[in-house]
Amino acid sequence: MKLLVIGGGGREHALAWKLSCSPRVQKVFVAPGNGGTARDKRYVNTSYQSNEALADFARSEGVAFTVVGPEAPLASGVVDVFRARGLRIFGPTQAAAQLESSKDFAKAFMTRHGIPTAAYRTFSNAQAAHDYVRQRGAPIVVKADGLAAGKGVVVAATVQEAIAAIEAMLGGATAGDEAKVVIEEFLTGEEASFIVMCDGQSVLALATSQDHKRLLDNDRGPNTGGMGAYSPAPVISPTVHAKVLREVIMPTITGMAADGIPFSGFLYAGLMIAPDGGVKTLEFNCRMGDPEAQVILMRMKSDLVPLLDAAIDGRLDQVEAQWDRRTALGVVIASHGYPDHPRRGDRVTHLAGDDDDCITFHAGTEWVDNSLVAVGGRVMCVTALAETVRAAQKRAYDAVDEVAFDGMQFRRDIGFRALKPRAPAIAHADPL
Ligand code: AMP
Ligand code: GLY
Repeated sequence: MKLLVIGGGGREHALAWKLSCSPRVQKVFVAPGNGGTARDKRYVNTSYQSNEALADFARSEGVAFTVVGPEAPLASGVVDVFRARGLRIFGPTQAAAQLESSKDFAKAFMTRHGIPTAAYRTFSNAQAAHDYVRQRGAPIVVKADGLAAGKGVVVAATVQEAIAAIEAMLGGATAGDEAKVVIEEFLTGEEASFIVMCDGQSVLALATSQDHKRLLDNDRGPNTGGMGAYSPAPVISPTVHAKVLREVIMPTITGMAADGIPFSGFLYAGLMIAPDGGVKTLEFNCRMGDPEAQVILMRMKSDLVPLLDAAIDGRLDQVEAQWDRRTALGVVIASHGYPDHPRRGDRVTHLAGDDDDCITFHAGTEWVDNSLVAVGGRVMCVTALAETVRAAQKRAYDAVDEVAFDGMQFRRDIGFRALKPRAPAIAHADPL
């Protein structure tokens, strides 16, 4: 069969790779893909002009089903367009994607359905927002309502910083009349990513993972899309896992269905786990995480094709996924100047070779005149699988050290939280 993956990042390279491993798959189209999916006979890059043009392409190529990677096509209604034409696609509709595309929608939804999250208020008037921040004090968190490519959240250490963030989001000339900010309570604890597949009614939990959002070692520097991840995440103990499914995931799925906008697709809950095991939802994403997808898919032993087939057909309750017990760890290499002023055009002069236990998933790469070139942002994610976190770190960093391009930036400490001592948990047969 032929399949189509929408997107061009590391997550989509990983999805395309995992699908291509299925004996049922002949060809994976990737729209628009990247330098890693170009010039590899398993994949065919294709252009992404519009949702309608892509649906025409899927129909004319006889694509069996489509998987959507990033949030932007989902928020623009690609699933609605495909479904209206009777094409099979995995992802939420535009209405359901509001769980990610509007923080205000997500917060109101969580409050209505009793899903644990930080206390908050929404403002469209800057003065009222300033007054609220002065009354609550700092630290406090200011979030732009719409999609902001990971840049819409300011964790303000002082009231002044919060006010500056409100001004930037509401006061600026670019903010339209509809602009809103969500101001919420500052939470402490350890973050984790909990990603499930949904078919509107049932869920299949994927392996747990943890991202590293800050640019620099020891969680310093600006927030990014994610500089590395690993799976499993020990902070999600079996008890916490059960609690997240019970208190966050299932109420979300039943709540969306009850509200008349059933959610199908990957659902990603960004969680804050308190030291006592209490769970709060920081955000929802209506897609897999990037770089979480790379580590999760490296650990997935099952064929992804029947799982997606079941999800699209509303049969998720009839399938299970098998996971490699080993740890997967991915190190993102970003371009010079990322995240604020990423530079384009550095030639990638060396890459690490792939094997079964170490794969470089490309993101911001392109072929220009027979050279592989870094084209800004996150350039690639070197992902390794090994018996322990330390061994996975060693394997991934040995491969990272083979990569060369000018200005490359990466963290040296991916996985550090998994190495810190924790209270002993009951061992599980299959690490989640
Ligand atoms: P979000 O896009 O909502 O996940 O926010 C991006 C990052 O900001 C999160 O990964 C957290 O590190 C941080 N953050 C968001 N909300 C809060 C909160 N209520 N308390 C503390 N940190 C937060
Ligand atoms: N790595 C975080 C995200 O994909 O949102």
